[in-house]
Amino acid sequence: MEVSNNIFYKCASKKTPELDGQKLFKILAKVEAEHAACWKKILKMDKIEFPKYDKCAPEFNQNLEESHSREDRAIKFYGQAAAEAKNERVKEIFQAFVEVETDHLHLSEARLK
Ligand SMILES: [Fe+2]
Ligand SMILES: [Fe+2]
Repeated sequence: MEVSNNIFYKCASKKTPELDGQKLFKILAKVEAEHAACWKKILKMDKIEFPKYDKCAPEFNQNLEESHSREDRAIKFYGQAAAEAKNERVKEIFQAFVEVETDHLHLSEARLK
């Protein structure tokens, strides 16, 4: 999920014509790459693949819509994981992700108004 969001934001930062959008998606791509790296460490994975992706829209608003639904999905996923986690520390990690992804959701929400 974090990898998929990273490659979407990379694509969106390239295709969105507005500079504000390019900057926004670039920052989000960076944060999602950090999330992927974080899970790589926690799960002790060797390496992560970031496939090429160019299926994002050539338009700011459509990419904001997609950002919104992706962040919504991330919040639900981590929220569910936090609710099911038996270990307190693990629960805290998932909860921290819910908070960051909620901030991301607000970024598209503020611009979609
Ligand atoms: Fe994320
Ligand atoms: Fe996010």
